[in-house]
Amino acid sequence: MAPFFMRFMPLLLLLLPTAIREYYYPPVATNRRPNDATAIDEVRHPIVLVPGASCSVLEARLTDTYRPSTPRCGAMKGKGWFGLWQNRSEVAEHDYVPCFVEQMSLVYDPDANECRNLPGVETRVPNFGSTVFQRNPEHTDWCLAVLKKELERLGYHDGDTLFGAAYDLRHAPPIPGQSSRVYDRYFWQLMTLVEDASRRQQQQQQGRRKKKVILFGHSMGGMVALEFVRATPPAWREEYIKHLVLVAPLPASSGFTESVKYFVSGSEMLHVPATTAMSLRPMWRTFESVIAAFPSPAVFGDDKPLVVTGRRNYTARDMADLLADVGAAGAVEPFRRLELPKARRYFEPPMVPVTCVNGVGNGDGEGTINLISMLAFDEDMRREPGQRKQYKSIKLHGAQHSNILTQERWLKRVIQEILEANRI
Ligand SMILES: *[C@@H]1O[C@H](CO)[C@@H](O)[C@H](O)[C@H]1NC(C)=O
Ligand SMILES: *[C@@H]1O[C@H](CO)[C@@H](O)[C@H](O)[C@H]1NC(C)=O
Repeated sequence: MAPFFMRFMPLLLLLLPTAIREYYYPPVATNRRPNDATAIDEVRHPIVLVPGASCSVLEARLTDTYRPSTPRCGAMKGKGWFGLWQNRSEVAEHDYVPCFVEQMSLVYDPDANECRNLPGVETRVPNFGSTVFQRNPEHTDWCLAVLKKELERLGYHDGDTLFGAAYDLRHAPPIPGQSSRVYDRYFWQLMTLVEDASRRQQQQQQGRRKKKVILFGHSMGGMVALEFVRATPPAWREEYIKHLVLVAPLPASSGFTESVKYFVSGSEMLHVPATTAMSLRPMWRTFESVIAAFPSPAVFGDDKPLVVTGRRNYTARDMADLLADVGAAGAVEPFRRLELPKARRYFEPPMVPVTCVNGVGNGDGEGTINLISMLAFDEDMRREPGQRKQYKSIKLHGAQHSNILTQERWLKRVIQEILEANRI
């Protein structure tokens, strides 16, 4: 089988569009200068990458109004911006973990219906526009590192045709009918980035038309990218968005069960040394993004228990009770307000071409996102005829949430879709 296939491989490759062919046949000499206008293929559209939740750096600045719970936590007061968990070893050595938890936490303001930083803690996400994301020393291939390398090999260049849009992972992107000051600002920044990326290509290729931009989102970044597109004016989308490529996106409208786990037991996703999921749990419980992603009854139903305990079982409809029962009664009100718009199965299609790639076949999904959420997403995207004809869903059997963009065979498929999006 293999030799037969190999014999015809060159012929098969000729049938593929140039860009894809190149991908399977790596160019022998890689002396293409990415800045050189000739290296930018006819079909190449700028790409903006929106990474997963653990990939954004978060910096803080402590002002005079900050009242630390212990004096130690005020050490950085008045000293300007610092990375909240960038100095990983220092966080551990100086027993800074409780301070880290305190300064990362959000508080809910019921009057404004808004989750905010503690008084006196200002935060920002640095490096907006760049694809230099948070690096996890234990997993240097995470945070789109492998994908980025591949795109660069194909001629993409950071700051020229390739951009990044990190966000504040603690906040949930607003779904239609909600508002968020944090995301209002982020969406505005992202619109500007997309417009600049598009014009830049036009200037470099004098006289050519503006190049639309491919927006790529992974995991929580997929949710952010989707909500961003939905929040833009239709004429703007038409003018600037070439394609939305979503890989293992977190499903905003249906939620997923893993978020309940983050809430109940914490998570080690951020890799802060000397911490455990449990020690960071108080912090996770304040994140709007976590409670907003709880499984919705409209998709998960109200008869199947999602959390089983000795005393009581909880279905998707019992999540508010669960919050109170695990001792987080303060989260009930923001949860109810965030859940409200989802009570009916809301969905607003982005009305741009979309490709969605998911792993399947690992238990009940791909390790993080439930199959039922993926299928609900597909169904929603296909409900509106105008979206259905520009929606492509790909399920990769065996791919997991954690390796869909690091293992070569899955990554290849994703790159193929990006090239396809470039071509059509
Ligand atoms: C981070 O490390 C650098 C170098 O060791 C140090 O100057 C800085 O004060 C540290 N910042 C924090 C917040 O610990
Ligand atoms: C909870 O669900 C499990 C599994 O579905 C079932 O065996 C158990 O009896 C239920 N417990 C309660 C208290 O209803």
